[in-house]
Formats: sequence, structure tokens, C-alpha cells
Amino acid sequence: MHEIFKDIDADRARSFVGRDIISPLDFEKDEILFLLDVAKRFETFREPLLPGSILAALFFEPSTRTRLSFESAMNRLGGSVLGFADKGVSSVAKGESLNDTIRVVEAYCDAIVIRHPLEGAARVAAESTERPVINGGDGANQHPTQTLLDLYTIRKEKDRIDGLKIGFLGDLKYGRAVHSLVETLCHFDVQMTLISPQSLRLPAQFRDRLTETGISFTEAEEILPAAQDLDILYTTRIQQERFPDPLDYERVKSVYTVDRSILPKVTSELTIMHPLPRVTEISPDLDDYPRAAYFRQSANGVTVRRALLALVLGGIL
Ligand code: NCD
Repeated sequence: MHEIFKDIDADRARSFVGRDIISPLDFEKDEILFLLDVAKRFETFREPLLPGSILAALFFEPSTRTRLSFESAMNRLGGSVLGFADKGVSSVAKGESLNDTIRVVEAYCDAIVIRHPLEGAARVAAESTERPVINGGDGANQHPTQTLLDLYTIRKEKDRIDGLKIGFLGDLKYGRAVHSLVETLCHFDVQMTLISPQSLRLPAQFRDRLTETGISFTEAEEILPAAQDLDILYTTRIQQERFPDPLDYERVKSVYTVDRSILPKVTSELTIMHPLPRVTEISPDLDDYPRAAYFRQSANGVTVRRALLALVLGGIL
């Protein structure tokens, strides 16, 4: 094992080898903290740990950050990536089932990352193969690797997670990045403010989880005053592709724009995050606000995914 990993818990590292990463609910708090700790070491560690390993990236839905950061991560680890970024070029376009696609692809790779429009698709894929499957987003359900990089970013920007007041703004109904992060934050001592139009409230199953785990939360429809004493405002895109009725999207598509005019009305400590891509919900005039963290956040995606791939494929043992 390389010097930089000498003091990590080797048994815990071993427990990640071959593991599927489907939902944050599959992980204990200690495991999440372990992943964040390992990821931190990758900030300065550049050596290729996975020479000859192959990652299959099966993207049945559009993606820039998730796909390319996985690709960058795997390349930096000395491995390689194959796959597709558009289901139209795969045999799915000929009617092949997901199960068959996975059973074929498993022979070509050591691990699979999949993004799919159907909720539960990543779990189905994982059940079709012995290879580790990483969920790169399944419909409006979950996006666990986004959550890992979000938590990593929160720790890096704020030095802690416990004790923070975190606001979520935008499409809390269909936003899978929100769903995964909210569920994972149930392990921590945080307060939440959920800001959305009435029609895009956080679904009841997630609100129930907050209540069950004793996380205090309030809901609001307007950015202010709800955001005035937050430590973090996690903004999100209205998820156009998930609306059954395009007219419903039209009604809410530009409901929020966060711009510099809010800065005098919030604490000077407010960190602004966004999983990206943004449409109109964050004005570019915020980009040079020092606590606008969204581009640093997406850059952290490579560090975190390097750590995750190295763990799942046994590269640091
Ligand atoms: C998010 C996603 O795909 O859920 N994007 C991402 O992976 N960074 C958020 C979004 O598309 O709005």
C-alpha cells in the first residue's frame, strides 16, 4: 500500500472492493466519512493505481460532468473507459433489454457506471452482474456520487458538516441530487430550509425521513427571508425532462434567479452550491462572489470519483 494510505482502516477499504454504489441509504455514516477521508488524500496523490482496469460508462441520459469526471478519474488512475453517451448509438435502440446490455458489457470491463432515466435502473443493472455498478443518476431517484462530492465540497468550504444550516432551492421534487444529499445529511446534525414552488416540494418520503431522523426543517416558497441566515444555499435546476406536462414546466421554469442582489440580505458566510448545469437559477454575476462554490464543486467530482474507483476496484490495498 502506498505511504499516503498507510494509516487508513484496511478492513474498511477492503469492504468497498466490488461494492455497488446505488443509493446513499446503502452506506453507514462511518463509511461516508471514510470515503471523504480517502478522497482528501487524492488531492495530492497522483499515481496511477488502476493500470489496465476498464470502466464501462453507460449513459442513457445526457451528462457532462458525471460522465467526463468519471472518465477523467479513470484515466488519471491509469485505467481506461469505454461506453456510450447516447442510448441512440447502443443496441438499446434496437430493443435490447437493460439486463442483456449489462450481461454483455460485464465481459468488457471491471466496473460499470450507469445513468438511466428510469428510477431503479441502476439497482436492476447491479442485480444483473457481479461487476460493481455505480449509479450515475437514475431518473428522479438518486445520484449518490454527486452526494459524495457535495459533502466533500461542504467539508472543504466550511470545515464541517455538523451544525450547518443548509437551504435547498429549486426543483426539490424531481432533483435526484437533492434527494440523495437530503437523505445522506440525515446522518448529520444539520438544519434544513426547503425552498421551492408548491408544485415542486420535496416528496413526502424524504420529508418523512427528515422527521423520523429528527432533522429540523422548514419549507418556504420565496428565497428571502428563508435564505437570510443560511450557511449554504444548494441551488438546483428545474428538471424540465421530468415534467409529464410541458405546460407545468413553463409555469415554473424561471421561478428563481439568485443574483448579487441577495448578498446584502444574507450572511457574509453564505456559500452557494449547485450540481450544475444551471439554466437561469444562478446569475453569472455571482460567479466571482468568493463563496460561489459551484465550479470548485464540480472540480471536486474528479477527486472524489478517483477515490471511489480506487476503492471499489481495490487499487489502494
Ligand atoms: C445533476 C443530475 O444529472 O442530476 N447534474 C449532475 O450530475 N451534476 C443535476 C441536474 O441535471 O440538474
